[in-house]
Amino acid sequence: MSERTFSIIKPDAVRKGYTAAILAEIEKAGFKIVGLKKISISKVQAEGFYAVHSARPFFDSLTTFMSSGSIVPLVLEKDNAIADLRKLMGATNPANAEEGTIRKKFAGSIEENAIHGSDAPETAAFEIGYFFAGYELA
Ligand code: PPS
Repeated sequence: MSERTFSIIKPDAVRKGYTAAILAEIEKAGFKIVGLKKISISKVQAEGFYAVHSARPFFDSLTTFMSSGSIVPLVLEKDNAIADLRKLMGATNPANAEEGTIRKKFAGSIEENAIHGSDAPETAAFEIGYFFAGYELA
């Protein structure tokens, strides 16, 4: 069944000029790009997005990083989109990511790991709404 997920090309990948290459991997894997924009967010906006991780030791560092440069939020659609994007992304720590995954190809470290993807339907709904208005999805 067709499903939507939310993704972000993170500041490290945008800075290194990997945006188009990552989008190509995503399209090649069969995802339809339903929403796409390039923005930069404040630390407070990043803290709101990652609120579920607010007790984690890396929260300050992660939200500082995510507000350190341009990001490309995406809404993606295909059958089984949430699980399939997580598979395409690879492990959180690129050192553990499988060959052929986006993080294996483009990520530098567990923090600067190139791409975010929603982990569940409720998270995807929250995350899409956090970054996109309905009229931006087509
Ligand atoms: S967990 O345990 O599954 O909830 O964690 P995970 O989904 O792997 O990570 C949640 C987000 O935090 C980022 N992360 C980190 N950032 C900085 N330092 C460390 N050590 C670290 N560990 C995890 C990770 O990239 C996830 O970000 P998103 O944007 O969700 O991919």
